[in-house]
Amino acid sequence: MTQHPARIRIFDTTLRDGEQSPGVALNHAQKLEIAHQLARLGVDVIEAGFPIASPGDLEGVSRIAREVRGPIIAGLARAGRADIDAAARAVEAAGKPRIHTFIATSPIHMAKKLNLEPDAVVERAVQAVQYARTFVDDVEFSAEDATRSDPAFLIRIFQAAVEAGASTINIPDTVGYTTPDEIRALFAQIRAALPPSVILSAHCHDDLGLAVANSIAAAEGGARQIECTVNGIGERAGNASLEELVMAFHTRRDHYGLETGIRTRELYRASRLVSRLSGMPVQPNKAVVGDNAFAHESGIHQDGVLKARETYEIMNAELVGREAAVLVMGKHSGRAAFRKALTDLGYSDLPDDKVQHLFGRFKELADRKGQIYTDDLRALVEARSDIPQT
Ligand code: KIV
Ligand code: ZN
Repeated sequence: MTQHPARIRIFDTTLRDGEQSPGVALNHAQKLEIAHQLARLGVDVIEAGFPIASPGDLEGVSRIAREVRGPIIAGLARAGRADIDAAARAVEAAGKPRIHTFIATSPIHMAKKLNLEPDAVVERAVQAVQYARTFVDDVEFSAEDATRSDPAFLIRIFQAAVEAGASTINIPDTVGYTTPDEIRALFAQIRAALPPSVILSAHCHDDLGLAVANSIAAAEGGARQIECTVNGIGERAGNASLEELVMAFHTRRDHYGLETGIRTRELYRASRLVSRLSGMPVQPNKAVVGDNAFAHESGIHQDGVLKARETYEIMNAELVGREAAVLVMGKHSGRAAFRKALTDLGYSDLPDDKVQHLFGRFKELADRKGQIYTDDLRALVEARSDIPQT
């Protein structure tokens, strides 16, 4: 446990890696709206796009750089002059511009995709970082497919990139292959090999459903920047989910000793906005932002929550910008929740035997119908003919 939590930076790539989700294409106005919400949320870095990808992407990044203040605005570039020129042009109007350049370092990527020897890859990385530094002071370097790369080669290329002027070193799990223990050890090894002033960054994909766990393990190994997306959208199975990471660090800050600068009450709004504009629905059981994340259905849980919310809630819905937790009325609901629901509807003075009778009717209805809504409850109470008169 740490007395003063260390700060972990949130690098949001919803507008770059997130937009690489199959089927997602955001227009400039939508990107800008999301970027403003990300700034309200308090992210440290917005990766606004991949400017070389198209003139539209370049313009989208430029508009965000011109209009959004607060976070660092980053543009992505492969390790080549044309990409870096486009990224530099796109972020030049930003208050805090960053160029994020990358090259692949795993044997399979170097041999099959780049067709380059490792020495040539290091040379390209150095040239890219040096060239990016002629435009901006803040350069991030990433080793694509780092978690399937030789750690000794990673250390070599990262030391060369730092020497060339990179201040943030990103170690991506590009294909979502690593595990928490593996990535924690990799970060610790690389942390020990680089100057303390260099910020290590984690960028995890969710192919095995481990992106959040791996990002947190990377932080335990020394990462102080985490790359993630709202609702976890991104290539294939997506990226680490911003809201899950932020709430894990917040809820377990005594355990991890780390804190973000995120205004948690803006999380739900960000999630709804990204879902609406990207057209990607959020699954109901999604942690933090799913419809059911703060809904209690079983009688035992409802009774507990009515007595003390902490019995079954590790964080309050209000903390992430949602309405207070809801008790969902269904066949698993118990008497305590049923009575509370009636009281909330204004039926606080019903005698116990009537409530008892109505509860039996409610269970029959719930068996037939599944979820019970307030109108159903009202109808039950108002159907007075079958309620015993006292
Ligand atoms: O997944 C990845 O490796 C990336 C890099 C461009 C950082 O998105
Ligand atoms: Zn990625």
